[in-house]
Amino acid sequence: MTNNNIYFIANWKMFGSTKSVNSLNKVISYSKIKKLKAKIIYCPPYTLIKSFVNKTKNSNIEIGAQDCHVQPKYGPFTGAISSKMIKDLGGKFVIIGHSETRLENDNKKINSKIKSALDEKLNVILCIGEKLIDKKKNKTKFVLRKQLLQGLKNLKNLSKVIIAYEPVWSIGTGIIPTENDLKKNIRFIRNTLKISKKFTKSKILYGGSVNPKNIKNLMRIDNIDGFLIGGASTNEKIFIDIMKKSIN
Ligand code: 13P
Repeated sequence: MTNNNIYFIANWKMFGSTKSVNSLNKVISYSKIKKLKAKIIYCPPYTLIKSFVNKTKNSNIEIGAQDCHVQPKYGPFTGAISSKMIKDLGGKFVIIGHSETRLENDNKKINSKIKSALDEKLNVILCIGEKLIDKKKNKTKFVLRKQLLQGLKNLKNLSKVIIAYEPVWSIGTGIIPTENDLKKNIRFIRNTLKISKKFTKSKILYGGSVNPKNIKNLMRIDNIDGFLIGGASTNEKIFIDIMKKSIN
């Protein structure tokens, strides 16, 4: 298997300083390897978007943000960043609905944020995933379905929406779902999109404790289109190691 067209999206969360831009050097070189068709996207904090865009200008790496406001353009919203502002910085993607932001964001608000991002022609990475308590109560499918259908409500064209399945209990814990559960849940997400006549070709990624040790096993799951990677993506050697190990 190759990693052609497989997404490797780095979610830096609240990490990184102005010096961090130098830690892209090796990844930029790696991205230029002839025949490498993996799609590499960095989502640093807002403060670093512009410098990451400049740094990756002559490479295939693209840059995104980790959230956006419900209003696509400008407005009296102290502390907020809009999709238009992300675009203005050169960002092409935005993560919406990450579990670390869901305390302040219900599915309705997430739906509005997705609309705002699509209005500005950004690509959206919609995160969905069950908490441990949901899993224990056998409510995973119920939660995923609700997050998908409410998050994507009234959206007709989902060609710019990528779904990232991130079980909350997997994030930062070192624990990943069993191969069987992951296959099952990704298939469920795909079928839910299909049944609701949403976009049937949506890319579906996995996120949660992806690392160089588990990537080979994760790559064996043939219905996964890529990975949303937190901690391991902030270290360029480890990030490259993950990408290298994803190729058999
Ligand atoms: P970790 O890879 O650190 O578990 O984080 C996953 C995540 O939340 C990516 O969005």
